[in-house]
Amino acid sequence: MNGQASRLIQLRQLEERGKKFSTSKIVSICSGKGGTGKTFFAANFAYQLTRTGNKVLLIDLDLNFSNLNILLNQAAKDVISEFFEQRKSLSEIIYNYDKNLHLVFGDSGREDYPRISKEVLEYLFISILKISNNYDYIILDSSAGADELTLYQLIRSDFNIIVTSPEPTAVMDAYVIFKLLSSANFSGEKLVVVNKCTEEDAQTAFTNLFAAAKHFLGEEPKFLGAISFDEAVHKSIVRQELLTEAVPQSSPAKEITAIVNSFVSFAQVANNNHNRFII
Ligand SMILES: Nc1ncnc2c1ncn2[C@@H]1O[C@H](COP(=O)(O)OP(=O)(O)OP(=O)(O)O)[C@@H](O)[C@H]1O
Ligand SMILES: [Mg+2]
Repeated sequence: MNGQASRLIQLRQLEERGKKFSTSKIVSICSGKGGTGKTFFAANFAYQLTRTGNKVLLIDLDLNFSNLNILLNQAAKDVISEFFEQRKSLSEIIYNYDKNLHLVFGDSGREDYPRISKEVLEYLFISILKISNNYDYIILDSSAGADELTLYQLIRSDFNIIVTSPEPTAVMDAYVIFKLLSSANFSGEKLVVVNKCTEEDAQTAFTNLFAAAKHFLGEEPKFLGAISFDEAVHKSIVRQELLTEAVPQSSPAKEITAIVNSFVSFAQVANNNHNRFII
């Protein structure tokens, strides 16, 4: 980390003060267990948010196995390590998917990935804050689990959407994320999406997660919605298309649209309460 980054970190306090008066807009998509559908959901959630008139920046922050570029069939010349290694600014590595959806890609298949420290990750958050006025929401796709860096990312976000599949193992791992966020005094919002499920599976999975969080943490998780297990998702990934763009009439696409609508209402209420609290 060079002097420039250190100075930026020193600015954090000042900018944090400014942030208290701004809108909550950083949304991490996370999970305990791997493969629950975070990247698929993050991309389609971001795209569908733009269909409701929002301007969105989607950042691939899966530092282990980034693959948003493959999912969206985009050639990524400038990737996030260029930013972490301070060769490029955040603005310089942003791609336009279209007018309202902008993307930052990770590096895939690189062996000598730069070691990311919390300071470097903080440098990203400061840089996000600087360009945040250009966007309504900034979505961060994450690695599975909660290693030190991922947990830091989740704590620095305003909203965490925890994507789980209905299997008890995945639900238990989602509970662990709740527990870690609770231990770290995360003050933002935690919202649950159950993916690859039937309606009945989703209800059972959420009821179990709710019971565990209520009993052990004294918390009541909020349900954002469920997405059916559907072959159309697999097909869209193979075709490197966004399901919500290519097949908007499919069940999972409609369910993601409903999730986006719930999220937008939820975020509006959260932001109104936040602003009332500040005033
Ligand atoms: N609703 C769904 N119906 C059917 N298959 C799905 C659904 N959602 C995701 N999948 C499948 O699950 C696989 C994993 O999805 P994805 O890569 O988005 O998960 P992830 O949580 O990002 O994984 P990782 O933890 O490795 O980052 C994909 O290959 C996709 O085909
Ligand atoms: Mg992923």
